Amino acid sequence: MEFNLLDLLMKRRSIRVFKKEKLENELIQKLIKAGLLAPSSKNKKPVEFIVIDDRDTILKLKACKNKGIIGLETAPCAIVVIGDREKSDVWIEDASIAASYIQLEAEDLGLGTVWIQMRKRFSDFDNAETEVRKVLNIPENYGVLCIIAVGYKNEIRNSYNENDIDNSKVHYGKY
Ligand SMILES: Cc1cc2nc3c(=O)[nH]c(=O)nc-3n(C[C@H](O)[C@H](O)[C@H](O)COP(=O)(O)O)c2cc1C
Repeated sequence: MEFNLLDLLMKRRSIRVFKKEKLENELIQKLIKAGLLAPSSKNKKPVEFIVIDDRDTILKLKACKNKGIIGLETAPCAIVVIGDREKSDVWIEDASIAASYIQLEAEDLGLGTVWIQMRKRFSDFDNAETEVRKVLNIPENYGVLCIIAVGYKNEIRNSYNENDIDNSKVHYGKY
């Protein structure tokens, strides 16, 4: 079937339960390639990725935050999306686009993902970004935006349909 981006966007849903199966390196490389192809303001490319495929470390990352972490419970792979705050004042926007590109590439590969927010979130002890920085040895000048949990889907989520598209959010000409 011909590739259609809107079909892919309708199909993509957050997946929070994954099969045990590890991700082949070839698939991981495709996800990272998608992230690296994302545009960035002034082409400054402040975004970097840390790929984790070891369950112990993934569980340590899960402990960095106290809510919204179900996706890390079973994910065989986690991609931590960070941005160099000294390189760009809009690293958050750049990192968000890169994270989304990874999610869409994963969907196209038949994989599931969920975005797990770290910036502005907390563990029971400290802010989640600081905790992740400690676990992964990330230098202080990097902001930690999110972790994309990724793997083979082990839950069924319905695609979006036309009724889910809220056209009341769109204004033409003026608000
Ligand atoms: C900025 C952002 C932060 C999110 N944070 C979390 C999170 O911490 N944990 C989680 O399970 N899902 C998180 N999500 C996923 C959203 O809950 C999900 O995208 C939303 O409910 C819509 O569902 P869908 O992805 O299936 O379309 C986040 C999504 C975005 C865009």
